[in-house]
Amino acid sequence: MFSKEVYWQRRKMLRAMVGEGLILFAGNEESSMNYSANTYHFRQDSSFLYFFGINKPGFYGVCDVDNDRDTLYGDDFTIDDIIWMGEQPAVSDLAADVAVEISASVNELATLLKQAMQSGRKVHLLPPYRGDHVVKLAQLMDVDHKVVSELVSQELIEAVVKLRSHKDQFEISEIEKAVAVAGIMHTTAMKMAYPGNFERELAGAIEGIALSHGGPVSFPVILSMDGQTLHNHYHGNELSEGRMVVCDAGAETAMCYASDITRTFPVGGKFSSRQKDIYNIVLKANTETIKASIPGRSYREVHLMAARIIAGGLKELGLMKGDLDEAVAAGAHALFFPHGLGHMLGLDVHDMEGLGENHVGYNGSLKRSDQFGLAYLRLGRELEPGFVITNEPGCYFIPALIDQWKGENKHKQFINYDEVEKYREFGGVRIEDDVLITDTGSKVLGTPIPKTVEEVEETMKV
Ligand code: GLY
Ligand code: MN
Repeated sequence: MFSKEVYWQRRKMLRAMVGEGLILFAGNEESSMNYSANTYHFRQDSSFLYFFGINKPGFYGVCDVDNDRDTLYGDDFTIDDIIWMGEQPAVSDLAADVAVEISASVNELATLLKQAMQSGRKVHLLPPYRGDHVVKLAQLMDVDHKVVSELVSQELIEAVVKLRSHKDQFEISEIEKAVAVAGIMHTTAMKMAYPGNFERELAGAIEGIALSHGGPVSFPVILSMDGQTLHNHYHGNELSEGRMVVCDAGAETAMCYASDITRTFPVGGKFSSRQKDIYNIVLKANTETIKASIPGRSYREVHLMAARIIAGGLKELGLMKGDLDEAVAAGAHALFFPHGLGHMLGLDVHDMEGLGENHVGYNGSLKRSDQFGLAYLRLGRELEPGFVITNEPGCYFIPALIDQWKGENKHKQFINYDEVEKYREFGGVRIEDDVLITDTGSKVLGTPIPKTVEEVEETMKV
């Protein structure tokens, strides 16, 4: 937990930004797998963590803007709980840890909310993303569940996004810890990527590394030789010479800050010359666009720069043709680079995505494109100091997409389909780093993780 003043200050700023009413943060409950006592790993709601810091199920935080005070609602643990869970702090002690002076039971929250609803007082909610939240909130307020969605507050979303978008030095150092663990995960996967091993052995080993460093993985491990499937969670293949492994994985710290790193490496430890060609195009897109990620520049512009570098590299290899600016403007590069360059990173791996992707990544002056490829760009807005973002260009050969576009003769003035056919079995390459926007430019967070062809091959030497 950060120092109590951090949470106090965050809530004070939030109350000032929202202006009136009650702000209600619902912490998460345990979530069952196959019967109620057998639960998934508990994950606290990130906004609740940001403002109230308590990483336990069953709590609610209320910021009373009109009366300038905050309350933590939760029920003290019973002796039965303590028998199964061990000694637990009192709710009042938990509240004191995050500089909340008042604590009360969940029943008292129900009374407060019912009164607020009856008197027409404004109650601000963030969008609930778990069904049990909707049911619980409707019960607490004694309203139909449809009313709950009407309480989702644009003012609150905007204020939370504004605060959480700018990471302070404590948050940055947490993310750096998460990147350090990811570094061990990725170098371990590289060293294990030899013919005869199974993808699942690599995936299991790196998930264990995250756990052994105190947190789970920050999202289910993406690891496959079929890296052309962008989020491939199937780990059943036996590794074979001539293929590459795309590994997209990160760790969460004990305080729930995430890393999100991707590396691509050749099974057996040596890139073929064709693999090197594609790899170096993606590497150039990664390194050049990190340099270009500076305050005041829109990430959409940086994304399009990555697209141009990839299209340029593919043109040199004979896979694309024609005018590069026209090709990128038309979206022809998206056959190979169909996703966005990156997203915000913080307490969530796609930070604040639960509040609405466009609230986080776009703003009044910049609307999300509906062009294939660019439409997947989660973060398009101007960069600001304190943002932590991912930079993750990729180049993929997706047989179903190639067939579809070729069948339609789509962008045939920019794509040399005969050459593309020769790469059908290639798979994909993605390279991803976590990047802080500074006052003057940008900085890759954490200790460097092998990334050039030489560094990867050196790491993989047995
Ligand atoms: N690391 C997975 C993603 O960014 O979507
Ligand atoms: Mn990512």
